[in-house]
Amino acid sequence: MRRIGVLTSGGDAPGMNAAIRAVVRKAIYHGLEVFGFRRGFYGLMNGEYTLMRLGSVADIIHRGGTVLLTARAPEFEKESGQKKALHIIRDCGIDALLVIGGDGSFRGAAALEKLGVATIGVPATIDNDIAFTDYSIGFDTAVNNVTDAINKVRDTATSHERVYVIEVMGRTSGYIALAAGLAGGAESILVPEIPFALSEVVERLQRGVKRGKLHSIILVAEGAASAFSVAQAIKEQTKMDVRVTILGHVQRGGTPTAFDRILASRLGAEAVDLLQSGCHGQMLGLLDGKICTTPFEKALAEEKHFPADIYQLAAILAI
Ligand code: F6P
Repeated sequence: MRRIGVLTSGGDAPGMNAAIRAVVRKAIYHGLEVFGFRRGFYGLMNGEYTLMRLGSVADIIHRGGTVLLTARAPEFEKESGQKKALHIIRDCGIDALLVIGGDGSFRGAAALEKLGVATIGVPATIDNDIAFTDYSIGFDTAVNNVTDAINKVRDTATSHERVYVIEVMGRTSGYIALAAGLAGGAESILVPEIPFALSEVVERLQRGVKRGKLHSIILVAEGAASAFSVAQAIKEQTKMDVRVTILGHVQRGGTPTAFDRILASRLGAEAVDLLQSGCHGQMLGLLDGKICTTPFEKALAEEKHFPADIYQLAAILAI
């Protein structure tokens, strides 16, 4: 192996830059050349790349987003798009490709692997919805961003004795809502993985008021319900003063936490070592603190197990 490619794909995640840095530096350490493809699979299809040097990844470990840029590339989902990318890979003399992204990106990586390109996936998505890894790069930073926002909302919520319904990202998963809800002491957490009844949310609120709670926070994962409809239902069933905060993309930005930088550095460097040892067609992950590999097909076929015990704990601690 002489030359590898690296790209970031899908929604950006804080820590992607630390992963790019680790890939580039570890590859150069091994005497490999690295081509960085810009704008994910879109840039791969269109031959947008630069030769990455040691200095190309200087001063980026602490920055959110991705210096390689990212894009959603519907054309790459079709065989014609994948063949276009294959052509570029062959033309550039790329021996292997590292894809840093979420499950959609891994589907793209698996398609290239099927076409004969040695590929490794590094999990990076704030959603943390990828099976066979306890954490994906960016999740910890997003959870800290949301927790920080909850702390701020609490101040104003208490002062006005209000209920706040806060909507967070996660697409069809509730991992951000669960982790930030537990860390932020939310009264109720609504996630797509666990059925809920709004009547229970209301009962909880009323119990809280009776025992003198000055405010309440309800954390809603975007895949579970709309914050506005939850707020409307609470308003209709109680006389409480309710406000909605939709955190949106602020969750995805900002300086990555030390946890995400360390995870990204470990996974990025390991990805290069794996390719060197001839291993590919796999995604990397962190299970019980140890780095492990899982074939793309297996990883993509499996739903991540939602920790119902932690959900239960959050509910008990918020009585
Ligand atoms: O997958 C990451 C994520 O931030 C999801 O949580 C969210 O639903 C989606 O991306 C938003 O996508 P976009 O930035 O394209 O609007």
